[in-house]
Amino acid sequence: MAGDKVSIHGSWASRWVFILAATGSAVGLGSIWKFPYMTGVYGGGAFVLVFLLCIALLGLPVMLAETLIGRRARQSPANALRDLAIEAGHSAKWSWAAFAGMITALLILSFYSVVGGWSLDYIIDMGRGDFQGVAPEQAGAYFARMISDPWRLTLWHSIFMLLSAYVIARGVVAGLEHSLRIMMPLLFLLLLILLGYSLTTGHFMEGVHFMFNFDTSRLLDGLLPAMGHAFFSLSVGVGSILIYGAYMPKNSSISGTIVGVALLDTFVSLLAGVALFPIVFAAGLNPGEGPGLMFVTLPLAFGNVVFGQLMGMVFFVLVAVAAWSSAISLLEPMVAYLVERTRVSRVWVTTGLAFICWFVGLGTVFSFNIWKEARFFVTGADSFQLYQWGAAGGLDFFGVIDFFTSRIMLPLGGLTFVIFAGWVMGREAVREELAMRSPKLFALTFLLMRYVAPLGILIVFAAQLWK
Ligand code: PFF
Repeated sequence: MAGDKVSIHGSWASRWVFILAATGSAVGLGSIWKFPYMTGVYGGGAFVLVFLLCIALLGLPVMLAETLIGRRARQSPANALRDLAIEAGHSAKWSWAAFAGMITALLILSFYSVVGGWSLDYIIDMGRGDFQGVAPEQAGAYFARMISDPWRLTLWHSIFMLLSAYVIARGVVAGLEHSLRIMMPLLFLLLLILLGYSLTTGHFMEGVHFMFNFDTSRLLDGLLPAMGHAFFSLSVGVGSILIYGAYMPKNSSISGTIVGVALLDTFVSLLAGVALFPIVFAAGLNPGEGPGLMFVTLPLAFGNVVFGQLMGMVFFVLVAVAAWSSAISLLEPMVAYLVERTRVSRVWVTTGLAFICWFVGLGTVFSFNIWKEARFFVTGADSFQLYQWGAAGGLDFFGVIDFFTSRIMLPLGGLTFVIFAGWVMGREAVREELAMRSPKLFALTFLLMRYVAPLGILIVFAAQLWK
């Protein structure tokens, strides 16, 4: 029976270790860095509402689908889809969809590592006391100075990539458990301390209002970005959760575990938002500031409290660890695939792939300095250009990768996984893997997977096209 297979890459020691690893993958820069800045750019409450709906109705079913596919097949995403499709009497070509997902993961890692590097840089800056008593303009200027230096960014990007590759090369199962057991709860605690600081700014309610009050006219603005970010935040759509599912012990319940991980991830995002926005308003910063939002607000908070130097340093260590445990899950699907498919060792496969991601990541490094003026997909009143130096609109290199991966590939990948579970594997296989006690709950879950999530994803795409 399919359910009795074992993974050649090892297994998590228990359900708890799976929870740690999956939470480690989900909670990362997406929750702490990207969610607050996107909420700012897309107008606050409207974005948050659509994001939460997308998590519950689209992201969660995809997460369940990925986990059960992985656990049933116990292989890398592409091989998992191929084998399960053949088993169910369908075409082996399904593996191509997962292959696209694995490449998407590598593209995400290319920029993820650059931003992970920013956090590493800030550990040193915080610890050195660079932000003691800092004013808002100074914090903004500090960040601008950092990203304008390609050498500095390349250095930290390289270190971040090496740290991630090291764990992958040793094997994820062996490498992750110890660090996450301590780091995750600590990150949570420091977020609560940050929240405590926000409460003292006198602008707490303004922040809460910004995040939870919405203007119905803005609901459509952030629809596709919110869906893409829901997938990004839960780490679904590229096979990362699938591969972690492949290492999951047979006897643990998928649904309860996955709902727990998704709730935790969403909670961290909301907590990060509620903690950051009061600081943004208190300092008179622009909430739509963009990718620098966290790197300007946190130094302000920690630079102006007692023990801030130490706490700020620890905070950035934890952000870097959260980013690192997510980065690992981005690299693992392709590494597992190549280890299954070739005779090359895990160490060499990891080294090669990490190098490719690092190289592509240089494009993101340069987007903030020497390629700042390079613009792709520039649309004018009556013209369209693929590339133009110094154009007013368009996307920079980082923008292109982010747009293509988060807004297009992640939802498409998610669509593939729910269709695969709901239509290709079929009801009985899904029932067997999920092993839910309540038949009603199973019927609801299967309904979400088979109809609600696929249709929902297609509707969001369509709404975006006809907006
Ligand atoms: N979920 C991670 C975060 O929120 O930072 C990022 C991520 C990891 C996205 C793994 C996609 C993925 F497959």
